[in-house]
Amino acid sequence: MQKRNRLYSAVITGVGMYVPEKVLDNKYFESILDTNDEWIRTRTGIKERRVLEEGATSLLATKAVEDLLKSTNTDPMDVDVIIVATVTPDMFFPSTAALVQDNIGAKNAWGYDLSAACSGFLFAMQSGASLVESGQYKKVIVVGAEKMSSILDYTDRNTAILFGDGASAVLLEPSEDLSIGVQDSILRTDGSGRDTLFMKGGGSLRPPTHETVDNREHYLYQDGKAVFKVAVKGMADVSVEIMEKVGLSSNDIAYLVPHQANLRIIDATARRMGIESEKVTINIAKYGNTTAGTIPLCLTEYYRDGKFKKGDNLILAAFGAGYTWGAMHIVWGID
Ligand code: COA
Repeated sequence: MQKRNRLYSAVITGVGMYVPEKVLDNKYFESILDTNDEWIRTRTGIKERRVLEEGATSLLATKAVEDLLKSTNTDPMDVDVIIVATVTPDMFFPSTAALVQDNIGAKNAWGYDLSAACSGFLFAMQSGASLVESGQYKKVIVVGAEKMSSILDYTDRNTAILFGDGASAVLLEPSEDLSIGVQDSILRTDGSGRDTLFMKGGGSLRPPTHETVDNREHYLYQDGKAVFKVAVKGMADVSVEIMEKVGLSSNDIAYLVPHQANLRIIDATARRMGIESEKVTINIAKYGNTTAGTIPLCLTEYYRDGKFKKGDNLILAAFGAGYTWGAMHIVWGID
């Protein structure tokens, strides 16, 4: 295994999550769109998703971080950094991280938002891990949080059924035991994919006007077929690449923790890696695609279900808008 030069390893020492109570099942979409439960389940693996009725992404993120602080018995005054991966911030500015910092009373923390769509959590984990590995920061919270319902066009069957709201967070702390924690990653960006998955309006290119609203430019647009093709290849390729880079065979891997966009993309990635389905974390049926939230939601649920043991090799993998994609090798560090 190729060893990286670092003072400390960044170890996930706690997890937290929050999903809103309101459930939209596939039957609901049958009542508003030309679609059906069977199509959605067989093409995507999704049975239901959560929707936040009141409040914004900072509320989801705050509740996930509160769960994390409570379950790790962490004093908010001890938090150094908060990184929020999201494409649905409450506002362009201030950052959602600033709102979370204030909500939890983390008076000694600084933080920022990170925009990398469905790869946001992986990119934020790389950033957070670097802050910890240098020895400069001791408690870094990495959050993936989205209110996708705020940018979904519920008249568009191609996208409305795919996404859901939710948030999850992990705490990264330094360890002198370099054999646990974040080991390595491969992260990629290719902006030539910008036209297949984007939200056209609202930014400096197309500031809000009556025209942009009338044109439905403030909703997520996706060319599903085009994204599907590159997502299957991108996520599978980079997952195999990280296995080769860190010298792991499929037998060495306890769990693949993939972004939850489509069960068929997940299955294709696992097949390419030679990993059987029992070793893949899956909760897409319950939550749909929560964008930056999917990977930490899987980590939280599977850890709390007693599935991860200290020393387990996990491969995290994602693909998203941009394009952005990547994979990360983590050795689970808590009992
Ligand atoms: N219900 C019923 N039919 C639907 C539908 C829905 N909710 N959504 C799309 N369709 C239709 C399409 O209009 C198309 O009809 P047509 O052939 O008459 O035009 C037909 O189903 C087939 O569409 P197609 O795009 O070939 O289906 P697909 O097998 O590719 O599945 C997605 C569609 C969106 C589920 C799939 O492409 C996908 O998952 N894409 C990537 C998603 C993703 O990863 N996004 C986030 C970035 S990580």
